[in-house]
Amino acid sequence: MELNELKEKFVELFGHKELKAFFAPGRINLIGEHTDYNGGNVFPCAITLGTLGVAARREDTQINLYSENFSELGVISFDLEDLAYRDEDKWTNYPKGMIKYLKEAGYPISSGMDVALYGNIPNGAGLSSSASLELLMGVMLEDLFDLPVSRLDLIQTGKRVENEFIGVNSGIMDQFAVGMGKKDTAILLDCNTLEYELVPVELGAHKIVIMNTKKRRELATSNYNSRRNECEQALEELQKFIAAPSLGALDEAEFETYQDQLSNQIIKKRARHAVTENQRTIKAAKALKEGDLKQFGSLMNASHVSLRDDYEVTGVELDTLVQAAWDQPGVIGARMTGAGFGGCAIAIVADDQIDSFIQQVGKTYETEIGYPAEFYIASIGDGAKAVKEA
Ligand code: GLA
Repeated sequence: MELNELKEKFVELFGHKELKAFFAPGRINLIGEHTDYNGGNVFPCAITLGTLGVAARREDTQINLYSENFSELGVISFDLEDLAYRDEDKWTNYPKGMIKYLKEAGYPISSGMDVALYGNIPNGAGLSSSASLELLMGVMLEDLFDLPVSRLDLIQTGKRVENEFIGVNSGIMDQFAVGMGKKDTAILLDCNTLEYELVPVELGAHKIVIMNTKKRRELATSNYNSRRNECEQALEELQKFIAAPSLGALDEAEFETYQDQLSNQIIKKRARHAVTENQRTIKAAKALKEGDLKQFGSLMNASHVSLRDDYEVTGVELDTLVQAAWDQPGVIGARMTGAGFGGCAIAIVADDQIDSFIQQVGKTYETEIGYPAEFYIASIGDGAKAVKEA
């Protein structure tokens, strides 16, 4: 759905009003998985798939939200004075959480609003459709009500919605990438200090192919939260021997020295992933800056192996896609991206091999898994913003 059609939908639902338009992207993560909540580095980019929104203020305090992606739910409404989480409000709990926390922080959201949305991020694919929705709402509220809010504040509010309103104990990566993304660059973010650096993604005659397992991710939340708990336990046990504020503060040698103090194999593996993945991320960003694509690709591959064997968040669908990608000519590297347990993987593929890559990987996947994967060429775009009319 194009912006014009979305505007027509808005008018059909809410009448003619002075509209404003906004866009927030999805994200892929090049490397640095499950490191954000461990105080390590991540290396994501915003993509041009994302969520479009049009909105207008109202005179009263009613908030009306419509998504073309959930058209069967129609318009969902609530009042600005009653922003409690409700299951029956479905997807609108994300926008509601943003309004609630910004309002509680003292930002003057003084009236209701009408909103219509449409997103083209594949549903449940691990490309951060929820962070996209949160930041879309953030820039929308900022603009409609002239809020003196910093971008970092919007990002942190999005994370808080996820953690406290929705109940997923996620880190800051997704909201940060969606909020701070810049065209054709990746963000090397230190999740401990929130210092970051924009690194140009120059891949020569290669592109990033997103491979979607199309696997349903029902258990993702509980698995995600349990990995996080295992890492916290590992850190606590290690802190009896070494003063480290997070697993991300340890290098490989320090981990080697103390790993046998950990009380069981499971948490040892989880911690090993957190430590080595963070180091790989730092090395990968350096390799990309130096134009060493071969090194970058082999770090991506090592990341997948660690997520598969130590962190155990890949599963047969992601492993099948990534293995099939590794077996193709012209592939620099491939790995899962995002939380795992299904969702998407990415591969860096030579331009002249992309067609046969998609065909071959698609064929292997369908034969082994029993249903088709989907493929998209990723373009790296800007973070959440108001859409200026041409
Ligand atoms: C999800 C979370 C992020 C991050 C990744 C794994 O996308 O929302 O905070 O932890 O998983 O790297």
